[in-house]
Amino acid sequence: MSAVEEKKIAALEAVTYVKNGMNVGLGTGSTAYFMIEAIGEKVKQGLTIKAVATSLETEKHAKQLGIPIVTLAEAQRLDVTIDGADEVDDQLQLIKGGGGALLREKIVAYNTDFNIIIADASKRVSKLGKFKLPLETIPFATQLIIKELESMGLSPKQRKNGSDNYKTDESNDIVDVDIWNADMNPSDLEQTLKQIPGIVETGLFLHSTDLVIIGEGESTIVFEK
Ligand code: 5RP
Repeated sequence: MSAVEEKKIAALEAVTYVKNGMNVGLGTGSTAYFMIEAIGEKVKQGLTIKAVATSLETEKHAKQLGIPIVTLAEAQRLDVTIDGADEVDDQLQLIKGGGGALLREKIVAYNTDFNIIIADASKRVSKLGKFKLPLETIPFATQLIIKELESMGLSPKQRKNGSDNYKTDESNDIVDVDIWNADMNPSDLEQTLKQIPGIVETGLFLHSTDLVIIGEGESTIVFEK
């Protein structure tokens, strides 16, 4: 079974949690893609929901499928959000932001009653940090932040899009850091990073997840809070 098939299996199981009348958060990435496709199919068959997109890419995809998109302010609160992850550990802690949407994703997750993460089996880890941790930074401060992160031994690298700096939907930068050998637990690291002015958000999602659905082979493994 390929990773693509595992993403699809996880996505299809997750959409069974979406019911009529719900406000639904739509994640971003190649795993979330299958969830959006499946919700689009259900909407065609009569499911009535309102959705909030975690990125412009997701918003475009959802609109193409006829999924009604509203702003977070219009929705106020979301019943369920389904999103992908770059790494998931057994405590339901995540690294997210490989697709650059971490800021909106974290805001949407914070404003959701029940957060579901979907992923293929390669995303499951015993310790977070093989994947470089994305940090969203304000362009005014990015170069100074990079210097500070260097002095912390985190080997920061500004994300590029070809020869240009990568820009998020909020026109911010992304700096990817290596936390594998950081001498701090994820929670302390999150606190330390958030104290540096100009780091708007980190890709550490430590407490927001309620359910993880991992596609493994032809079935799924589910972890609950
Ligand atoms: C985007 C994300 C994605 O959920 C994460 O990068 C996983 O993406 P994929 O499903 O393509 O592996 O956090 O910001």
